[in-house]
Amino acid sequence: MELVIKNGTVVTANDCYKADLGISNGKVAVIAAGLTEGDEVIDAAGCLVFPGFIDPHTHMELPFMGTVSSDDFFSGTRAAACGGVTTIIDYCIQAPGETFVAALSRWKEKAEGKAVIDYGFHIAVPMIGDDLLDQMPAAVEAGVTSFKCFLAYKGTPLHIDDATLYKIIEKAKGCGALPMVHAENGDIVDILSRQLVAEGKVQPKYHVLSRPHEAEAEAVGRAIALARLGGWSVYVVHVSSRLALAKLREARDSGAAVYGETCPQYLFLAFEDYAESGFEGAKYICSPPIRERANQDHLWSGLRTGDLQAVASDHCAFNFAGQKEMGRDDFTRIPNGCPGIETMFPLLFSAGVGKGRISLNRFVELSSTASARLFGLWPQKGTVAVGSDADLVVYDPQKETTLRQKTLHSSVDYCLYEGWQITGYPVYTISRGEVLYRQGQVTPVARAGRGRYLKRRRWNGLEFPLKP
Ligand code: URP
Ligand code: ZN
Ligand code: ZN
Repeated sequence: MELVIKNGTVVTANDCYKADLGISNGKVAVIAAGLTEGDEVIDAAGCLVFPGFIDPHTHMELPFMGTVSSDDFFSGTRAAACGGVTTIIDYCIQAPGETFVAALSRWKEKAEGKAVIDYGFHIAVPMIGDDLLDQMPAAVEAGVTSFKCFLAYKGTPLHIDDATLYKIIEKAKGCGALPMVHAENGDIVDILSRQLVAEGKVQPKYHVLSRPHEAEAEAVGRAIALARLGGWSVYVVHVSSRLALAKLREARDSGAAVYGETCPQYLFLAFEDYAESGFEGAKYICSPPIRERANQDHLWSGLRTGDLQAVASDHCAFNFAGQKEMGRDDFTRIPNGCPGIETMFPLLFSAGVGKGRISLNRFVELSSTASARLFGLWPQKGTVAVGSDADLVVYDPQKETTLRQKTLHSSVDYCLYEGWQITGYPVYTISRGEVLYRQGQVTPVARAGRGRYLKRRRWNGLEFPLKP
């Protein structure tokens, strides 16, 4: 065996048991008791052994709002590995007029030679004509089996109308893809933003007033209605609002195959954290916005009941200096997005498992298994099983860590959780049997370009239960 992990407690979405793991050719080869023979042996006594975490929503090197997100596929995926993430699914943003295949090869070029961990892509679809719709099957064939539609960002090429969304849903059904929506009513956000700016309300804190709960809930309800009309599924990315969650819950209770993810910024941060901080509040600007503290409990409840299926970072880092500052005189010009890939799952473990909000198995479901199943990667990824990729996190559930920007690995000049103390942290992150992160250090194996492109399976709506 190339690697043996012994004395640990293996945790999957369903099980929790003491076992040793033997790893060969990048796969889990043996799960047994008493393994000792390995080129390298990791003693995981006192630790949990999780399947590698999956982040299904990232934006590396994203050209957006007049700038480019500050993490590239190297710095972003290295930071990911330090937080236990062994797979990302990044958004390939198609340029207007570009074919899907061309957009995909452009995005692959960015990732190849840089990514430290394995990666797949979603395609974010701008306003498109019927000729481009016809290209969806080719993208699916290439392993991109989910398409994001932006109902927000009116006035940019990303924003799509209802007719286009409906056509994408129909086409997705025909070729085995999962439609995804950024659900905020773009027209309403546009009107409210203009009114606020006209009244001189230009500070970051007004961003939240420009994107009310109702604007998110309306768009979620509309996307669900269109998915139901088309007889297909929809996945709502970055659900932030209790009203939006209620729409998902209602639809799921009546049997609709609709899914939602939330993000750490909505579970852990609140409008109250930045309302009085002047322009510093720009660090918190993302869309949908970070809402009032009382909203958080609703999202936790959604994670517990299964009305939200996954947790994703929506990692879209912009430096405060020079990038967030672009909106110093106008909140609508602050690049939208927050860093969070490295801290996401340690925070979820500490506040979720540690504080008794979710079980250990549910933690694994949310951090790995659900995303693998939803996005056509299971069982290669998302579980600990013989034959699966040896993507593993050896996790010390007692380790106390203080989060600080200067000890994290993203290429960004702030951390939204600066000084937060959390319990539980990865000790080793292993990707296809190779140790990328060991006891606080990135290893030499974590080199640029070792990550592999993941061709994902088609979505058929059957691999994911409506209720867990
Ligand atoms: O504010 C956000 N979420 N920025 C990233 C782009 C997106 O909408 O996901
Ligand atoms: Zn979005
Ligand atoms: Zn995003």
